[in-house]
Amino acid sequence: MKLPMVSCRFPMIGLGACLLLAAFLALRSPEAEQVRAAVPPGVDCSPVDLLLTPDEQWLLTANQTAHTVSLVRVATGEVVAEVPCGQRPTALALTPDAKRVLVTGTFSHDLSILSLQDGKLTSQATVRLGFEPRGIAVSPDGKRAYVALTSAHEIAVVDLEKPAVLQRIPVGRWPRYLALTADGKRLAVGCNGDGGVAVVDTETGKQLYLEDFAGLNLGQMQISADGKFVYFPFMVYRQQPITPGNIRLGWVLASRVARVRLDGRVRREAVALDPPGKAVSDPHGIALSPDEQWLVTSASGTHELLFLKLPGLELQDYGGTDHIPAALLKDTARFQRLPVGGRPMALRFSKDGKRLFVANYLLNAVQVIDFAGRQVERTIDLGGPKEPSLARKGEAIFHDGQRSLDQWYSCGSCHYEGHTNALTMDTRNDGRNGNYKVVLSLRNVTRTGPWTWHGWQKELELAMQKSLTDSMLGPAPKDDDVPALIAFLETLQPPPNPHRLADGTLSEAAQLGKAVFESEKAGCVRCHSGPYFTDGKLHDVGLGVPGDAYKGFNPPSLVGVYDRRLYLHDGRARNLEDVLKGPHNPAKVTGRGELTPLELKNLVEYLKSL
Ligand code: HEC
Ligand code: HEC
Repeated sequence: MKLPMVSCRFPMIGLGACLLLAAFLALRSPEAEQVRAAVPPGVDCSPVDLLLTPDEQWLLTANQTAHTVSLVRVATGEVVAEVPCGQRPTALALTPDAKRVLVTGTFSHDLSILSLQDGKLTSQATVRLGFEPRGIAVSPDGKRAYVALTSAHEIAVVDLEKPAVLQRIPVGRWPRYLALTADGKRLAVGCNGDGGVAVVDTETGKQLYLEDFAGLNLGQMQISADGKFVYFPFMVYRQQPITPGNIRLGWVLASRVARVRLDGRVRREAVALDPPGKAVSDPHGIALSPDEQWLVTSASGTHELLFLKLPGLELQDYGGTDHIPAALLKDTARFQRLPVGGRPMALRFSKDGKRLFVANYLLNAVQVIDFAGRQVERTIDLGGPKEPSLARKGEAIFHDGQRSLDQWYSCGSCHYEGHTNALTMDTRNDGRNGNYKVVLSLRNVTRTGPWTWHGWQKELELAMQKSLTDSMLGPAPKDDDVPALIAFLETLQPPPNPHRLADGTLSEAAQLGKAVFESEKAGCVRCHSGPYFTDGKLHDVGLGVPGDAYKGFNPPSLVGVYDRRLYLHDGRARNLEDVLKGPHNPAKVTGRGELTPLELKNLVEYLKSL
């Protein structure tokens, strides 16, 4: 192919840049532009997952913000197809015959089945699953897929022949990623709402046990070849208030890699990943080298890969030390960090273990790592705008661990995917120590001021500055950092409500509940009004404690309220029934009559549908 002409007027400084530009233009061939024709111009790809076909001729990526799957010819790095799938794809899987590609559409609540034949990728079927499908695994016979449904707290078993849902297996809350043993008998599921890993027997369709260890943001999972262990990265919250001393000791948020046994319940074994002074944040992807000598994880917040020698790795009960073990940190034959930039997510090894493929979200690219040389050998551009938009800059800041003191965590560590990590935390945002507050979801947040539970923060700009300097103890924002963060927050919305009927309408019970919600007796609309069910004012509903620096609370938005793990500012309620029967009982809040059990039941149905 002929290189496009690039005029270089400043030979000394310009040459390198011109070569780079020429190389960049060469990569974006006219064919590649044509392939992207199905996607609106200027849309970022943001790959989050990837896989190789068994013959290693083809690479597939799930592109989260383009809502597509790309098919790449490995030999040339050429993107030969980019096919639409469901909204916000999260994970990919391939049937053992390599003829079908499965992809979860997390915000369209579905599983897309694409056919792959002779370098052609085409849509075949879509199965509606509801409730934010994320991780997928396929049975060894290729007949079934197991899909984690995050907000249903269950695994859908999909018959791929029909295709239709065969069964739903309840697991812990907020399952995201999962892995299946090679014999198809055990399924390991990372349950983020319960901070643990559920182990499921696929024959009986029952959860055998939940090994819980207060882990949060559990990443992707891989099972060892002998089927005994599942490996995954995660973060821990050590319950201490945000101070420089606590952060540096690893007593606020810290990163770990762990393994859980699949053949019987034993406490998980983990190793801390954070070097003192220069920590690691938001570990996400995982890959064991084919000889299982190495474990690689992507620290997406610190834009790097971590290489850990597996034999002899200091995996200990309860996670051992606060920082990475000193002996491991010093031993460059056992531990290395490779900066790759952007936001590295999923990882896959080639069969010979010589190459490692990295889905890099912010770079809109797949990076090919020369494993022995520990360097990026090749970057495959999947497509995206040349200049990041303001919102994309904000997204980069949001996921940047380097914005926090010694780079221990990012905004995304607490507001996972712009939602919440399901915890109560002490950010001292309420002016006090020891008052743990539920991490608020940021979906629709720019439209629901004032901010914080107490609603004392009237300016979102100031809230952002405070998040950077006080929640993160990082450097003060510069230039357009704050407008960029706000532009990113503008994009955060909940998925369509999965409790609604297929046509988006309310069930009969929810309709009756709506009447209760709007009734004089329940009085909810006095405070929960407008499109987000909050009047933006402060109300004392009797839930404060003596010594609170601020009086009253701002009614939280009720849009998406079905999808909380903890309710009310201090997380004292576990579900909507508990909220309304106990601390936020309408009779107590408004002083009017008690609701009948049926009114309450219908009211809860309505709340779930918001
Ligand atoms: C250590 C965890 C943590 C980190 C890191 C963090 N937040 Fe928060 N965030 C919280 C908690 C907890 C609250 C609720 C605080 C309160 O109400 O007192 C909150 C509240 C907010 C709110 C107000 C939401 C509302 O509905 O009122 C916004 C906006 C926000 N955070 C954005 C960010 C951004 C942007 C960053 C990164 C610059 C960030 N946060 C970093 C935990 C965190
Ligand atoms: C006087 C104002 C007021 C009225 C009336 C009121 N609420 Fe609230 N509501 C609030 C406030 C303030 C909070 C936050 C309190 C806290 O977290 O401490 C809240 C919290 C909630 C929550 C928890 C949301 C979350 O994310 O944790 C739910 C659910 C809720 N209200 C539903 C209702 C329903 C249903 C009604 C009617 C039966 C109602 N509220 C009546 C002010 C009110």
